[in-house]
Amino acid sequence: MESVPYIKVEPPGPIARSIIEKDQKFLMQSYVRWYPLVIKTGKGAVVEDVDGNKYIDMNAGLAVMALGHNHPNVVEAIKKQAEKLQHYSLTDFYYEEAVTAAEKLLSISPIKDGRVFYTNSGAESIEGALKISRYYYEGKRQYIMAFLGAFHGRTMGSLSLTASKSHYREHYSPLIPGVIHIPYPYPYRCPFKAEEPKECGEAVLGFIEDWIFQKLVEPSEVSSIFFEPIQGEGGYIVPPDNFIPGLRRIADKNGILLVDDEVQSGTARTGKWYAIEHWGVVPDMIAMAKAVGGGLPLGAIVGKSEVMNPMKKGSHANTFGGNPIALAAMKAVIETIESENILARATKLGEMVMKYFNELKEELEIIGDVRGKGLMIGVELVRDKKTKEPAVKEIGRILNKSFKRGVLVIGAGVSSIRIAPPLVIEEDLLAKAIEIIGEILKEENKEIKK
Ligand SMILES: Cc1ncc(COP(=O)(O)O)c(C=O)c1O
Repeated sequence: MESVPYIKVEPPGPIARSIIEKDQKFLMQSYVRWYPLVIKTGKGAVVEDVDGNKYIDMNAGLAVMALGHNHPNVVEAIKKQAEKLQHYSLTDFYYEEAVTAAEKLLSISPIKDGRVFYTNSGAESIEGALKISRYYYEGKRQYIMAFLGAFHGRTMGSLSLTASKSHYREHYSPLIPGVIHIPYPYPYRCPFKAEEPKECGEAVLGFIEDWIFQKLVEPSEVSSIFFEPIQGEGGYIVPPDNFIPGLRRIADKNGILLVDDEVQSGTARTGKWYAIEHWGVVPDMIAMAKAVGGGLPLGAIVGKSEVMNPMKKGSHANTFGGNPIALAAMKAVIETIESENILARATKLGEMVMKYFNELKEELEIIGDVRGKGLMIGVELVRDKKTKEPAVKEIGRILNKSFKRGVLVIGAGVSSIRIAPPLVIEEDLLAKAIEIIGEILKEENKEIKK
């Protein structure tokens, strides 16, 4: 067997090119596509393209494949369930798989005495949470707060909360009314120009209480605050430690629901089941998707029962949410994370990656900031450490070079590298991947100095 990465033909090879040509002919082209990778198979943290090139996967299929590709436990669970029952609408009837899976999901939730609602995607989990929070206040609290830099999805409701790139929203206005966007405490580029992370967190919390609630809306008219405990698409931004506890305090003081978007940061990615646990805060609802379904389209909302129980028959439902095969995969994912001690593994491997890039940061002008928790790590690239000018052109080149050398990694925010490999990645493979990225950063570092 070849060692990985293994580049047999420079990608995109001939088969990849012919598929891309057909893709352009038959599919709507609104997808992003970072580079011309045409994937064929995967095993663990290694994926193979249609031309036989083998890559180290630092994307995990966009933070979905926490247990790597084709984990035998997940494959087995899917096969077994497919032979038993594939679908029977949970909206209209009952089945046991939904109950046992919900019990399992609740057993790992920081929300005690919770209830589950199943969805099919991250955006749908956010849509549901939006409706539940409005319903909870019987439509009387019409304002919702969210953060600049947030990504909560692309359907009309979730897009109303998303504010990570203005072109995502272009041509879609009017979105749902009553959404107020607050700057997110981004310690490296604090919107309030605070030097220290703690000051940045205080500035944002103060802005909500002293400006938004004093000048714009009465807090009694706000139903919910949606936030990502670590901003994902916005740049893998870890907020200051006082931020999330501060949000909880503001929410409690004013009877506002705190909705934690763990679509990307949840299901063990950060070394905890949910990233919010790093700050010891319990939200009122958790929206999840991505990794929870082990690669099948599944999402969920876990909410406090007092928040979820008022929902009357028909007030929210769907046909496919809680599909039995997806739930079998979810159960296998959770049980495997437990049995293989994946939380500790994500923490340990994350420390190794952080150490490597922090050391490289000392050496290279191009690395402005390294941040993360577990295996959700952002490496922010700049053209100049003093001015913090984002290395916008360079990052595209870096990701493309990395692809050609057999390491799959993408960006986040304006100019950050997003490190999110499967949590089961072998230590030596991970070390190899970050070294390849490091080599490319060294090359690009010479370019910015020219
Ligand atoms: C934090 C967060 N919320 C919501 C979503 C939307 O999820 P989906 O693409 O499954 O609709 C994403 C997707 O990247 C996300 O990262």
